[in-house]
Amino acid sequence: MTANPGHTPVLVTRTLELLAPAGGELAVDLTTGCGGHSLALAEAVKPDGVVIGIDADSTCLRCAADRVRAAGGRFEPFAGNFVEAPAFLRKTGRRADVVLADLGFCSSQMDDPKRGFSFSAQGPLDMRYDTRGPLTAEALIARSTERELTELIRRWGEDPLAGKIARKLVQTRQREPIRSTTHLARLVLEAYGPRARFSRIHPATRTFQALRIAVNEEIVALRSILQHIARGAMGVHEGGWLNRGARVAIISFHSLEDRAVKRAFAEMASRGVATLLTKGPLTADKSEIAANPRSRSAKLRAIRVDGPGGANQGWGFGVRKSGGPRLLTHEP
Ligand SMILES: C[S@@+](CC[C@H](N)C(=O)[O-])C[C@H]1O[C@@H](n2cnc3c(N)ncnc32)[C@H](O)[C@@H]1O
Repeated sequence: MTANPGHTPVLVTRTLELLAPAGGELAVDLTTGCGGHSLALAEAVKPDGVVIGIDADSTCLRCAADRVRAAGGRFEPFAGNFVEAPAFLRKTGRRADVVLADLGFCSSQMDDPKRGFSFSAQGPLDMRYDTRGPLTAEALIARSTERELTELIRRWGEDPLAGKIARKLVQTRQREPIRSTTHLARLVLEAYGPRARFSRIHPATRTFQALRIAVNEEIVALRSILQHIARGAMGVHEGGWLNRGARVAIISFHSLEDRAVKRAFAEMASRGVATLLTKGPLTADKSEIAANPRSRSAKLRAIRVDGPGGANQGWGFGVRKSGGPRLLTHEP
């Protein structure tokens, strides 16, 4: 199979500066996608280091494996949810030195109408990263009550017209099933009515985001992996999946995700088991945004795992211009 990445990775240089992967280390890419970050990690841990690449989408994973191996990197694919990563590492008796999560979807998924992520092209209302998953967006719309749909669109889409959209969906499905992306987009437009003219983004954007998050239980998965990271940081001595000194970076694309990451990292730092490597979120600069508009909303945060009684008995942040993370206070 020819590797066709179809996705430009975001914030690669800054991510590598923070994660500072070194030769021989074990890097875990929790969201390998099309392999852009995995490729950079594999290059850095060469020749003895390994990248374990995880993705719920096995098509992406195959593409990533081809790319990384073609470049001479050691790559171990794992098809599944990233929440399974800690158990997988423990089972195989390994600990990670570097962990990355670049959340959300790949451009290749968004651009494929058959996957149903985009309202710009006609396709089935699927939206699953893992096509073996039990729930499609079509099933979710068909089965949820009006109240549940309102809550879902309000919470995960932050759409102020959630109630109107949910009502429209429920009224429509009594007459005909809602099966395609373009049908759903049209219904949201109708629910907006004249307000659509004042919307900065396409009115369906938030509803599609909400359904995608719900179908893939994205916030549930993020909270769960954050808990695993916190427990991993507490358990660096025994039974853990993270090495002392492991670096963990998370790139998020909306405020719901970033808030969860910020809180979890701050909590770990305040308990003294991790050091914040980013004071606030790092974002793309103008040139990256011009070259890759998707990077506009990317927010990167990172920590270093110190473990109980670790180096961080205070707060420290900072990134060296080159050569990896640096602590501004309490450097060991
Ligand atoms: C933004 S893309 C990653 C892009 C990648 N960093 C690159 O450079 O090509 C996010 C990927 O995470 C996957 N994904 C999202 N949630 C996941 C989860 N809970 N478990 C495993 N993979 C997940 C998606 O299928 C998608 O391929």
